[in-house]
Amino acid sequence: MFYNPEHSALRAMPPQAALAPFAGSASKIDLADNTLANPIRIICSDYFADEFVPRRSTEAIVPALQFQIGIAYSPAQQPDQSKSVGPSRARLLAQEDRAVVETNRDHIVDTLIMLAELACFKQKCGARFPINEPIYNCRTCGALLEVSFRNGHIHAEQWKKTWRERRISNEVYDQSGVWRYRELLPFDGYHLQAVSLREGNTPLLNAPRAAAYASLQRLTFKHQGYNPTGSFKDNGMTCGVTQALRLGKKRVACVSTGNTSASMAAYASAAGLDPVVFIPHGNISYGKLAQALEYGARTLQVEANFDQILALVRVLAERLGIYLLNSINPFRIEGQKTIIFEMMDQRDWNPPDWIVLPGGNLGNTSAFGKALRELRDLGLISVIPRLAVIQAEGASPFYDFMRNGGAFQSQPDPHTLATAIKIGDPVSWPKAFQEIEVSKGVVEKVSEQEIADAKAIIGRCGIGCEPASAATLAGIKKLTLAGVISESDDVVAVLTGNVLKDPDYIYQYHTGQLKDPEGRNIESRFGNKPIVVPNDADAIARILER
Ligand code: F0G
Repeated sequence: MFYNPEHSALRAMPPQAALAPFAGSASKIDLADNTLANPIRIICSDYFADEFVPRRSTEAIVPALQFQIGIAYSPAQQPDQSKSVGPSRARLLAQEDRAVVETNRDHIVDTLIMLAELACFKQKCGARFPINEPIYNCRTCGALLEVSFRNGHIHAEQWKKTWRERRISNEVYDQSGVWRYRELLPFDGYHLQAVSLREGNTPLLNAPRAAAYASLQRLTFKHQGYNPTGSFKDNGMTCGVTQALRLGKKRVACVSTGNTSASMAAYASAAGLDPVVFIPHGNISYGKLAQALEYGARTLQVEANFDQILALVRVLAERLGIYLLNSINPFRIEGQKTIIFEMMDQRDWNPPDWIVLPGGNLGNTSAFGKALRELRDLGLISVIPRLAVIQAEGASPFYDFMRNGGAFQSQPDPHTLATAIKIGDPVSWPKAFQEIEVSKGVVEKVSEQEIADAKAIIGRCGIGCEPASAATLAGIKKLTLAGVISESDDVVAVLTGNVLKDPDYIYQYHTGQLKDPEGRNIESRFGNKPIVVPNDADAIARILER
């Protein structure tokens, strides 16, 4: 460690010589105004704080003797050595949006500071807002917001190595599969205050049986159901709740058909915030409702569907100053990007041909696309895989829009047993549309029977998932038959939620009792009925020998 807390002769630099505390303010080190006397004080560079002063995010003190310091205004420039101090063991380059530290020590060598702000998603509008504004829509035109980074060049290989090394660290923020990639998130140092339940770290699972079912040579599932509350929402929620903390909010809210509510309740309570959950009355699985209650969320059941309740909650959040944590919240999207970061890391940064995911409100689609674009722009991957978004037939407004063109038409009465994607008015469709265009992706829809059968097949792989996740396999099967996906393609399907989300669905399918929303029977094609047997060894043996 370079930092020596006992160092007594420390002298602070004037503010203009410091790295600014958070992204959004100037981060130029102006050594010209300095006497360069030892030591140099560097204030709040995320990386310094993290590496040199554990648990102190706002300042770090680095004895100048350890560094040679100079200024460079572009990544290509060498630092101006005339402004350097100390022995030539290391150098610090700083420019407006990044700082790079290079040392001859083994461990650290590259610091990336990305200036982040909220930007209107509509390019024509172009409005920008500070990262700490509690808003979800553009104040100028009302469109969705997204986090926008002004990042420069990074030393890609070095960062890949650092992220990999963090997997064996015992530090919370290295263990989290979200905060491990903190350099690519808009928290610049604030991650030390983040609330983490060790989210992410979800496996890539090979599924030969599911591959054969979909006529593929190989198929991998990235299973987000392994998350602490059982779904991919945890990747986003750790960031959303951390942003609520950064904004000083006391109360957070969401509308949910299950997974979002469980996730928000857990993270908000872990952070000491007050969670308020709105759910469509009678339309949520008991397992998920149980989680929200257990994690201490005030739970309000509303006689309306998801889309209607979201509109209601937006009004209430505005009126009561509650921070909204549905996927219109850009920080949720930032966290969900890490599903892709981790997937690429697990694949040694070799992108697959396809990434397939279910589409409801389309937040995840926009997160995946944004992650892929950012990785490409930073030189971490060379090509963007194609996204395939799968919707349920009864809730497929995005499919209809992509197929028919024209204005986006919401579906007033969406229906599917896959409640996680039972959404007729997906808020993130404009972002998802962009990501489908950029990735040369496709959108497909599948029937209730196709979802149910695919789900049983994923179960037979020993993997299991909730119904919306199974839409991926059903969609892949359809796209392979249609020749859109080739048999030899490298496909990763993202299973978004745990098998225990809708246990009633599972029981009914396997016992031949499952009915679609119109009341039609769903065939139990891969059913596995429990068998009632007498308390009689001979009788049981006869059954098992059959
Ligand atoms: N898969 C699962 C398991 C989900 O819980 C959700 C959304 C989706 C897919 C759809 O993702 O909206 O990003 O396209 N669940 C919300 C909820 C509705 O309330 O938990 P999206």
